[in-house]
Amino acid sequence: MTSVKAAILGFGTVGQGIYNIVHERREHFKQTLGVEIEVAKILVRDASKVREGIDSSLFTESFDDILAIPDLEVVFEGIVGEDPAYGYLDQAIEKGCHVITANKVMFARYGQELQLKAKKKGVQVGYEATTAGGVPVIKTMQNLLRVNEVKQVQGILNGTSNYILTQMRAEELPFDVALKAAQDLGYAEADPHNDVSGEDAFRKLMILCALAFGEQPDWNKVEVVGIDGISSEQVEEAKAQGLRYRHVADAYRDEATGEIIAKVGPQLVGADHPLYAIDDVNNAVTLDTNYIGTLTMVGPGAGMYPTASVMMEDYADMLAKPEKAVSLA
Ligand SMILES: NC(=O)c1ccc[n+]([C@@H]2O[C@H](COP(=O)([O-])OP(=O)(O)OC[C@H]3O[C@@H](n4cnc5c(N)ncnc54)[C@H](OP(=O)(O)O)[C@@H]3O)[C@@H](O)[C@H]2O)c1
Repeated sequence: MTSVKAAILGFGTVGQGIYNIVHERREHFKQTLGVEIEVAKILVRDASKVREGIDSSLFTESFDDILAIPDLEVVFEGIVGEDPAYGYLDQAIEKGCHVITANKVMFARYGQELQLKAKKKGVQVGYEATTAGGVPVIKTMQNLLRVNEVKQVQGILNGTSNYILTQMRAEELPFDVALKAAQDLGYAEADPHNDVSGEDAFRKLMILCALAFGEQPDWNKVEVVGIDGISSEQVEEAKAQGLRYRHVADAYRDEATGEIIAKVGPQLVGADHPLYAIDDVNNAVTLDTNYIGTLTMVGPGAGMYPTASVMMEDYADMLAKPEKAVSLA
């Protein structure tokens, strides 16, 4: 039995999910993947914090301790923001480790660089968890792009916004009350700015653009509008006309200019639209492709286990396809 050493960066919702799955599914991974995964170290901001039931010697505040792990194979990253996450993953790749991230803020900005570097180093980058949580949009798109072109991507990429819009329509709640309900249920952060302003959906859309079109649009040209300007009256009026507000991240390549046109904001959709029926905290992504046609995937966009599960699936894929990439150097 091969033993592989893993490190986890961050031990919040995502990091704990990874740790729990590695331990709960130990026997399953031995049987199906032929490996025993050992969590060798966990990076946190505060290593003195008591983390019930977990060996405290696993925790460190120093990334040097992660780099010093002998034969480190894979780094799972679940910390917050662009820095220092990018620098950590860059160093892990340099050391020859596979990296798997849930950090969309970092990956929207640096994902292409990290993937290029990984290719040169012959390691792999997993980022399914960055976009639409448990919905397997990245893997699905990677597969269908082998044959198809993606002409348009449209998605509900922020579950909190979708929950608020659903509550405003179905329960006839004003925005503030629906937001409070989302916070009480743990869907929205104490500071919900990134969710309701559209910024979170924007970062995810940029990740999808890089994959679908091989490039991102100029970020400054992307119109980003949140849901905070939608009134109860507007929602009621739309409902009376058989329409629903959806917060949609939308991107396509303009055939005439070749430019990628992307925007994020509320759209009114009718019953014939693939995103009309997507309620509550769900995420959904609709891909318009040349051969398959239109494909819509729906599922949980966040949460400990949906997110950690797709990260472990990324690692299982890496084990199944261990071939070293061709050097671009
Ligand atoms: N939560 C979800 O459902 C979800 C879904 C998809 C993607 N994501 C993304 O996954 C990432 C993690 O989310 P989360 O919800 O797990 O966050 P979280 O609960 O706030 O946990 C963050 C963890 O990262 C550690 N950390 C933060 N900054 C650090 C730094 N500079 N150096 C070392 N450790 C640091 C914290 O350490 P301490 O414990 O010491 O404070 C904490 O353990 C984020 O980028 C998020 O956008 C989350």
